[in-house]
Amino acid sequence: MARTPIITGNWKMNPGDMASAVQLAADVAAQTKGLEGVEVGIIPPYPFVPPVRDALKGSGITVGAQNAFVEDKGAFTGAVSTTMLLSVGCEYVLCGHSERRTIFKEDNALINSKVLKVLSKNMRPILCIGESKEEYESGLNKEVCAVQLGKNLAGVTAEQMKDVVIAYEPVWAIGTGLVATPEVAQSVHAYIRSWLAGKYGQAVADDVRIQYGGSVTPESVDDLMACPDIDGALVGGASLVADKFARICRFQ
Ligand code: G3H
Repeated sequence: MARTPIITGNWKMNPGDMASAVQLAADVAAQTKGLEGVEVGIIPPYPFVPPVRDALKGSGITVGAQNAFVEDKGAFTGAVSTTMLLSVGCEYVLCGHSERRTIFKEDNALINSKVLKVLSKNMRPILCIGESKEEYESGLNKEVCAVQLGKNLAGVTAEQMKDVVIAYEPVWAIGTGLVATPEVAQSVHAYIRSWLAGKYGQAVADDVRIQYGGSVTPESVDDLMACPDIDGALVGGASLVADKFARICRFQ
């Protein structure tokens, strides 16, 4: 089965207010109108999910969340559940983004719980993995990805893998302008797919979409997307500029 490319814009803690968020979503919708053969998604901060969803109505662009807690409801101040996210139209949730791992101290066990929780609600986790600069420089990128995949996908069945998207995001490339070369990214993506084949079988692995994330721009996207195992992009900074994000979605 051919993999449908998936380009998602992770707005992180941006833009600064709801009016700007709605305008950005409307601009992205207008500038990607008629685009076919690619799934486009926007992942805004929680408060902007419903207005962004409304601004995207009819565009085919999907909406996701940047995080979720593992309980459904209760005394968990500051937390947001997958049930809540589902009820406002989120189709997927980022799990294990490096900013969650480092700034918010999320460990592999918690990330695994989140992946399982998202799947239990028939939503799709976008599982982010990737090595630090030091690990990259020590040639450990594939080993780090293997450990994260093993721990973060524990208990996920082959059947559930059809709903999982993997995002390979080398930490040294995030927000730095240092995009991985297509050769480096392709080599890690191929390794991730071979790891998935070892665990779930080749047929399952062949259907899993693997995004690249880390300083993707209109200038770098085409060469990345030409690689056989790169099935999309998880875009941070460039997703905050409608014409840049639209151009990324129109990769050639
Ligand atoms: O989730 C997105 C990634 O962290 C990439 O961010 O495109 O600003 O480097 P960036």
